Amino acid sequence: MANGVFAQKKPDSCAFVIFGVTGDLTHRLVMPSLYNLAAAGLLPERFCVVGVARRGTSNDALRDSLLKGLRQYATRPADDAVAARLLECVTSIEADPSDPASFDAMKEKLEKLETSRNTGGNRLFYLATPPTAFAPIARELGRVGLLKEDGGAWRRLVVEKPFGTDLQSAKALNAELLKLLTEHQIYRIDHYLGKETVQNILVLRFANGMFEPIWNRHYIDHVQITVEEKLGVGHRGSFYDATGALRDMVPNHLFQLLSLVAMEPPAHFDAHTVRAEKAEVLEAIQTQSEEDALKNSVRGQYTAGKAGDTEIPDYGATEDVKTDSTTETYAALKLTIDNWRWAGVPFYLRTGKALGLKRTEVAIKFRQAPFAMFACTSVEELAENYLVIGIEPTEGITMQFNTKVPGPTVVIDGVEMKFRYKDYFKAEPATGYETLIYDCMIGDNILFQRDDSVEAGWKAVQPFLDAWKKAGANGMETYKAGSEGPACAFELLKRDGRSWRKLS
Ligand code: BG6
Repeated sequence: MANGVFAQKKPDSCAFVIFGVTGDLTHRLVMPSLYNLAAAGLLPERFCVVGVARRGTSNDALRDSLLKGLRQYATRPADDAVAARLLECVTSIEADPSDPASFDAMKEKLEKLETSRNTGGNRLFYLATPPTAFAPIARELGRVGLLKEDGGAWRRLVVEKPFGTDLQSAKALNAELLKLLTEHQIYRIDHYLGKETVQNILVLRFANGMFEPIWNRHYIDHVQITVEEKLGVGHRGSFYDATGALRDMVPNHLFQLLSLVAMEPPAHFDAHTVRAEKAEVLEAIQTQSEEDALKNSVRGQYTAGKAGDTEIPDYGATEDVKTDSTTETYAALKLTIDNWRWAGVPFYLRTGKALGLKRTEVAIKFRQAPFAMFACTSVEELAENYLVIGIEPTEGITMQFNTKVPGPTVVIDGVEMKFRYKDYFKAEPATGYETLIYDCMIGDNILFQRDDSVEAGWKAVQPFLDAWKKAGANGMETYKAGSEGPACAFELLKRDGRSWRKLS
């Protein structure tokens, strides 16, 4: 993990080949991240960026478009000299997986470029394309021999999310890629792992002696994982309507949070050991029957409303969304993990769009004090003990506990002890992709998803996908845009005698 990346070495010389170079992801995240790495002196000594598109443009046109993207999306005002140095490395090449000859031609051009730039044959292929193009591009790269590691040079493939749309398709994609590459060459991105606060979960748990002894079913009552967004679906209707909140967020982002919170302590801090522990805990999520999945979940779809200052139309009235769509824009689940640490401790997950607040957090709820020693306050009246890991927008950690209100009698009230990143550390604004891209270039895949954990994630959500598909519109709740989500999401916890933590 590139913690302390800015004190680290430069990656090996390499060619950074971006498929989907004309797309949004390249302009919004990949290039601004390369810019930030360039500004920090962390790009390889000898480096070239190859922008691949199905219909190629001239080098100048591509550089102009990427420069416009940098001006719009860079996390700090783009310095002309740094931007010029980076863009000078960019070459445009045309290749379309439906036209195999174009990949043969691309290979020839790439090899020439590598020789002229003296990049030593190391190649990173970044698939910033729609998911349907992942396998066809990889197949063509494999066929022309560009993925084969030889002569000491490395070849790596970066695959964006979504990795599959269900268990079967994720398995098929893994199988296809593993015919062409070995696992250590594949970097499956989940941008949540690029977030400092997410990486810090490991440090919080395993660099402090005081949490681990109480991090189990004896002391923890339940865990809540929340990823709520204010924005509606906007212009992503076509993708979102085929995807829904569950597929879009749970097997990837929310499960990254869950696995870091619930995994066993790894014996070593290396990619193999850490990823094995993460996969193991995901595999231990109980696979529910479809009947249980219906009982243990809530789906919602937003109706028109106002989130902040933004008017949001009915989900069904969104561009490229079917008017009678049964796609969920909100999902809440109750999961259990079948192992000694977590048996009997529910993990409640919720995520949705067009809600009143933007908030990503993990809240660990500890068991209440066992009996009422204070005559004036019964156990039920005591404030709840939470440890809250705030991911966004407030990055930090909050501890909630009870304290005596000053005065002659024993009056008890809940208070919070807060650590906020911004009070202690000054970090340059970043996209979150810098660490991930840097790690790909240095060959550290600790922050990337391994095949087994991707499949374990899909396996855990598959019963919900199947049950919801069969149920269609039955059981789909609505909620007003700008609200706290569907009322049933609150029922999900209430029937267990619990409640969601109030977000602020
Ligand atoms: C993406 C989803 O992966 O994550 C989006 O496709 C979602 O729908 C986004 O908005 C949330 O990311 P973040 O970092 O804003 O929580």
